[in-house]
Amino acid sequence: MQRSAVVVTLLSTIVLTLAGCGGRVEDTRPGQPVKHRQEAFKALLRAFEPVGLMLHDGAFDAERLAKLNEALAAARDVPFGYFAPDTDYPPSKSRPEVWSQPEKWQAARQRFVAATDALKAAGDADAAQKAYDEARASCKACHDAFRQR
Ligand code: HEC
Repeated sequence: MQRSAVVVTLLSTIVLTLAGCGGRVEDTRPGQPVKHRQEAFKALLRAFEPVGLMLHDGAFDAERLAKLNEALAAARDVPFGYFAPDTDYPPSKSRPEVWSQPEKWQAARQRFVAATDALKAAGDADAAQKAYDEARASCKACHDAFRQR
């Protein structure tokens, strides 16, 4: 093998290794629906976590909860607008059941909506904690059924 060919082989090995390590697949489709829904789920997590922190600190504050609920209401539907029928491709971590079991998928989403509605209606720390726990369980139940681990 000529020297230049060896160098090219080495270089391509390094590039492939780096690509494998990064593990990041770009969403190159028009509109980037997978990227957008993953970002929207991260935003949902960021809107949801502060409620848990407040309750964990034992610092129930109705006014603060109302503010957090506003942020949650703004975030909770966004990811679900990006699940068009032909969007099951890398880097998606959704399972095919999202599309093959639409009724089960809608029921999982509905459970989450109901739990966040209850959080909005909660007037004291106990009710808020109960609704928060149920909302968290609804995130997990949906992930167990519809997200790859
Ligand atoms: C009805 C189903 C459903 C509910 C409810 C749900 N998720 Fe998810 N979530 C998914 C699916 C499906 C994915 C995988 C998205 C993809 O990669 O295509 C996901 C992905 C995520 C991700 C990873 C995003 C990324 O960068 O890959 C986070 C974080 C997340 N969800 C947080 C939450 C939180 C927090 C809640 C509740 C407050 C929640 N989800 C409720 C279905 C759900």
